[in-house]
Amino acid sequence: VDQFRSVVTDSCIGCGSCVSACAFGALKMEEKKVIYNSKACMACGHCFAICPKGAIVFKEFTAEQADALKTEAQLQNAIQQRRSIRSFKSELISQEDLKKLINVAKFCPSAKNTRTTQFLVISREIMDQIQFDIASSVNAKLAEIQKVQDIVFRGAKQMIIAIQPSENSEMFRQDATIALTTIELAAVSEGFGTFWGGFVHGACMKNKDIAKKMGVKEGFDVVGCLAIGVPNIKYQRPVLREDMEVEFM
Ligand SMILES: Cc1cc2nc3c(=O)[nH]c(=O)nc-3n(C[C@H](O)[C@H](O)[C@H](O)COP(=O)(O)O)c2cc1C
Ligand code: SF4
Ligand code: SF4
Repeated sequence: VDQFRSVVTDSCIGCGSCVSACAFGALKMEEKKVIYNSKACMACGHCFAICPKGAIVFKEFTAEQADALKTEAQLQNAIQQRRSIRSFKSELISQEDLKKLINVAKFCPSAKNTRTTQFLVISREIMDQIQFDIASSVNAKLAEIQKVQDIVFRGAKQMIIAIQPSENSEMFRQDATIALTTIELAAVSEGFGTFWGGFVHGACMKNKDIAKKMGVKEGFDVVGCLAIGVPNIKYQRPVLREDMEVEFM
């Protein structure tokens, strides 16, 4: 993680939104002042994106620069505005809407056009049954935290699980990432929120029993997990990041 040089400027009104939006405990409020702990910071930029006053300078980027990125182009906006959402309302997305979203993957590229990715949507009931198995599979510390805070599922009520035949090689597995990424952008453009369930995915790869409890069939592997729901948080602007490294050879 880059050294994150966050500066809270004088326009701060002490509303605390940035503190609530920080999933990594890097911000706290003391006497109406935001205190920043660079050691805990993941440089995700959520504090910068949420601040109603544009009071945070993130790395060298200002809120004005980020606000200027807003465009009329819908897809571009969905890409820029997408954030990993870790706060959800209690309402569920209907099966009909989920099917519509998942079916955008029909239009995705697929290695050799084999289209071997299938999807499961798991409910909160299943998440509750497997949350501690997942947390312990990551590490003992997470297992302890999970008892008091839902770090594994971040309060999501539904999760889309992409599965593929276990014999698929890496090239075919890429189909699932493409599909989930496309589903994610479609979800954002419909006003839903998502985050990638890396803990869940990792645990399923380590421990097949967890995958089985989620309903994954014999002979199939979990190849990607996307939590989805109605966001209970609103970001004001995209996060600006350094340009990607590109070389023309
Ligand atoms: C493969 C992958 C796995 C991830 N796993 C988790 C996870 O288990 N929990 C979580 O809260 N966020 C997870 N994330 C979200 C990242 O932390 C997030 O994308 C990053 O901090 C940048 O923030 P942004 O997505 O809001 O731009 C994951 C992202 C990816 C791509
Ligand atoms: S969100 Fe902005 S205004 Fe609110 S406390 Fe954080 S820096 Fe201050
Ligand atoms: S960049 Fe992300 S992790 Fe760092 S303080 Fe802001 S919200 Fe927290």
